[in-house]
Parts: sequence; structure tokens; C-alpha cells
Amino acid sequence: MDEIIIKGGKALSGEVTVGGAKNAALPILAATLLTGGKFRFQNVPDLRDIDSIKELLATMGADVQTGDGEVHIDTAGLNHYEAPYEQVRKMRASILVLGPLLARMKKAKVSLPGGCAIGARPIDLHLNGLELLGADIALEHGYVEAACDQLTGAEIYFDIPTVTGTENLMMAATLAIGTTVLRNAAREPEIIALADVLNQMGADISGAGTAVITIKGVKHLFPVDTAIIPDRIEAGTLMVAAALTRGNVHIKDCDPLHLKAIVHKLEKTGATVTADATSLTVKGNGPINSIDIKTMPYPGFPTDMQAQFMVLLSVAKGFSVISETIFENRFIHVSELRRMGADITISGSHAMIKGVKSLSGAPVMATDLRASASLILAGLAASGTTTVSRVYHLDRGYEFLEKKLALLGAAIKRVPAQTKP
Ligand code: UD1
Repeated sequence: MDEIIIKGGKALSGEVTVGGAKNAALPILAATLLTGGKFRFQNVPDLRDIDSIKELLATMGADVQTGDGEVHIDTAGLNHYEAPYEQVRKMRASILVLGPLLARMKKAKVSLPGGCAIGARPIDLHLNGLELLGADIALEHGYVEAACDQLTGAEIYFDIPTVTGTENLMMAATLAIGTTVLRNAAREPEIIALADVLNQMGADISGAGTAVITIKGVKHLFPVDTAIIPDRIEAGTLMVAAALTRGNVHIKDCDPLHLKAIVHKLEKTGATVTADATSLTVKGNGPINSIDIKTMPYPGFPTDMQAQFMVLLSVAKGFSVISETIFENRFIHVSELRRMGADITISGSHAMIKGVKSLSGAPVMATDLRASASLILAGLAASGTTTVSRVYHLDRGYEFLEKKLALLGAAIKRVPAQTKP
């Protein structure tokens, strides 16, 4: 297991390029299960979660080849409809194969993902929606077993806007007979990206990006050659790194329209942000202002940026409050940040942050994907050396983050973990 070692205190400067979005690539790669044939995807990030979905597709009988940021998938020989526990436990988003498998194979058996570090994360809304489309669902021996003769369109109302739930239902409904309407659907850019790819494949989807998505079922879908959108969370993480280190960083190949909530909050902390169509420049200035943040479904402030902003606010002037409304246990990075000198008190879903003058480097342990990024950011700002262990969490969702930060002038390196006696 690798560790990342950071000597803090360097202001970041220069240019950095954002990679393809993990959370767009995952459902789009799963969508290849909807039809047989040869797909080509560009700008696919090189990440552990992407390896996980590729392995899962291969388990179903797809031929998956990777090279130069491209992924080629041939789904002509699909012959299996089971996602085993060993694969699903590595990545909860494996549940994204359920809708497409059911639509194409009329059968799917997918291990229940179980809890994870950031909360219970149930899949009841996915399953209720599939039942409304006509699937029989049984939970047996830790697996979801779903079967249907033919899915048929239905009105589906989500109690909570769920990102992967909306994606699963949208994919399943493409091949249903008749029209499906998803209400209170998630509105994330990744939903629009998936709908765009499905429409290129021959689906008839309108309203993606709004709370009401209409899917008119079609008889056939076709393979496509397309590219993955930029990762807004990677871009946001780099933006915070620039502001936190009082740096000046030009972030290329991103979509500033997807980053409005992050830009708004970053400007309130005192950073200067300028944007054009595909890039952003962030300049950190003088003292950091304290602000309050509440995580919300898109277009609100993303829960996936909460931990990174917490680091910034740990060294702001005065008090800030972060309210986490999406996941009930998403403050697990706090105890590690405290070990670096942050003054943070948790009360239920609220974190009260009293800004300190500076953080001090320490050995810390990554606990989940976004928490890992926050510890690396903390290390960039801290005095002395920070060693972040268990960085396999980081590798699930950030492509070459330490290399990108090093190119911006950070003193950061990855080393194999020291074996301790
Ligand atoms: C996706 C993202 C993740 C992000 C999250 C919230 C992917 C692969 N992952 O996760 O990075 O942090 O959105 O923006 O895109 N819920 C239920 N029942 C369900 C489904 C969800 O109660 O059946 C609840 C969850 O517990 C949570 C809320 O709905 O409180 C939103 O979760 P959801 O949008 O489903 O998150 P994911 O799709 O798992």
C-alpha cells in the first residue's frame, strides 16, 4: 500500500489539466450492457473504480480493451447477468449494471452493496423504480435478483433525488415498452452526460438536467464512439488547492458551468476566480474568510467537495459551519484534521470550524475517497511533513493527483508504505 508524503507551505502555480469524470464514466460504461456491439470511449480516467466497472463488464462476457485514455468495449458476446459480491464490495456504483442487465437480458443478479464508510446508502429507490417498470425483485442471500418478461414504462417518483438511482432507471427505461417519467430526478451534469450518450445510442430521453426526465422506450440501441465529460470534483479539488496555498493556478479542460456552486463559495472565501468556456483560473489572496456551507443535490453545493472546503475553512478567519445533508456519516476526515491542529466540533450533521492560524504536518490515514483528497490538501497547507496512508481510497477516484500537484510546485511524492515492525 502506498503513502503520499507532502512537505507543506508551497504556493501552487502553473497550469493543470482535468481528467474525465469518474461519475460520468461509470454509468456510461455500464450502459454498454444495453446492446451488443463495439463501443469506443475517449477521455476515460485511469482509476481503480473504472478498473472495477471494466472487470464487471468483462465478467458479463464483454471484451474490454484499454489504452491511451481510450476504452474499447465489445458487448456482442454478453453471456452472464451476475455481479458477484467480490466485485460489488469494491465499489458501490457496481449497482449501475442492474438496470441495463435487466433491460437487455431480462434477468440480473447483483450483490447488495451493503453500508460504506460514509453512511448506509440504501438502494431502495433503485429497486422500487424497477418494480414499477414491471420487474420482479427478490433479495436472497445478499443478492438482488431481478427478472422480467418485458419492462414497461411507468411514472416513478423519487422520495430523494438519487444520482445512481436516476441513472439506473433511465437506462432500464430506454428499452421498455411505452413512456417512463422520472420525477424528482437528480439533476447532476453526469445525468445529462449519460442521457446524451444514451440518445446517441438511439434512446429517446428528454428533460435530463431537470427534475422531470421523460424516456420513450425504443426497440433497439446501437454502440457509439464518444468522449467522457471533465471531472468537476477533480477541478473543484484543484481550485481549493490553489486558494488554500495562496497560489495562482490555471485549470484547463473543465466545464465552469458545472462548477458554479464551488466558484461562488470560493469567491466568498476571498479567492479570485476567472473563467472562460473550458478553463478557470484561481488565485488565492491574503486571509481566507469564514463561510457557511450546506451540501445539497446539484445545482447545490456538492457533498463530494465538503471535505476539501473543510480544510480551507480550518485556516480561515473566524467561525464557519458546514451542514452535511446528503450522507449521515461524512465527517470521518475530521478526527484526522484535528490531529493536524484543526479546531472542528461536530454536532449531528453540522461541523463547527474555528479557523486556526496554521495546520501542522502529521501522519494521517485516508478513510474514503474525498476524505483522502482533503488530507492531501491539508498537507499542502500545513507546516512540516504530512504522510497520508491508505491512499488506495484516493486512487479510486483521482487520476495522478500527486503528479498534478507536483507539476504545480507542491513538494509531494508517493512512496511504497514503510513496513512497521
Ligand atoms: C452519487 C455519486 C457520489 C456522490 C453522491 C451524492 C456516483 C457513482 N456517485 O452517489 O460520488 O457523493 O451521488 O452526490 O455517481 N438514497 C436512498 N435510497 C436509494 C438511493 C439513495 O435513501 O435507493 C439516499 C442516500 O442514502 C443519500 C441520498 O439518497 O442520502 C443521495 O444518494 P445518491 O444520489 O443515490 O448517491 P449515489 O448515487 O450512491
